[in-house]
Amino acid sequence: PPTRMPVVVGNWKMNFDHLEATYFIQKLAWTLRDVHFDNRRCEIALLPSFTSLRSVQVLVEADRLPLTYGAQSVSVTTQGAFTGDISADMLARLGCTYVLVGHSERRKYHPEDDANIVDQVRAVLAAGMHPILCVGESFEERRQGIALDFAVGQVSDVTRDLSDEQTSHMLIAYEPVWAIGTGMVATPQSAQDAARAIRDHVRSTFDETVASSVRVLYGGSVTSRDVAQLIEQPDIDGFLVGGASLDVDEFTSIARLTE
Ligand code: G3P
Repeated sequence: PPTRMPVVVGNWKMNFDHLEATYFIQKLAWTLRDVHFDNRRCEIALLPSFTSLRSVQVLVEADRLPLTYGAQSVSVTTQGAFTGDISADMLARLGCTYVLVGHSERRKYHPEDDANIVDQVRAVLAAGMHPILCVGESFEERRQGIALDFAVGQVSDVTRDLSDEQTSHMLIAYEPVWAIGTGMVATPQSAQDAARAIRDHVRSTFDETVASSVRVLYGGSVTSRDVAQLIEQPDIDGFLVGGASLDVDEFTSIARLTE
């Protein structure tokens, strides 16, 4: 089967202005150089605020830093009278590789339903970038014993009408809502069970090639304490990291343990 390059994605959420982002990237670049980080063994991606993307692009391109980056959300329309929105083409022009779609915070604080999430995925793909689709159950669904069905159902709702080709460009992040920002990490086994259920679903809906190329990430209170055991799981291809991505040393440790 094709090998899936592990990836550690830092979701900064609404943290860091562009000066802080610049400082972070420079410090990260020095640190990665110091530890001889090998980006052929693990990819590092950052998702800053829209306002920092241009600064990140300039630094990454000028110094050819071993980093990719992207945005945390995107408009479903391409242009026009949509005050305050940012289009996928604008993001692609800034060198974005990824766009996070359907994060639970977006589903909660903005009217983002499945239809809107599907449109975001299509917009990201049409602009030549990779959507990172976030799925995951809340504590209530876990308690009812329907966690896997719920997460797989979310994947199914979004990918249902996509082609093999489109789906193969996606990443899927399993982020149980109860684990986000709570310090409660899924056990390696339950994260693996979810990642495998998601991959099995992709295999049965599309085919083996798509299933074996889609990278499935775990997210939810990831710190360097947990990654060694999580990355050993056969269906976990990396991490979506929130809080721990705001500290250069901690984030570097996570990437090194994922290498
Ligand atoms: O997108 C990553 C995120 O929601 C997880 O956040 O702070 O629990 O790592 P955190």
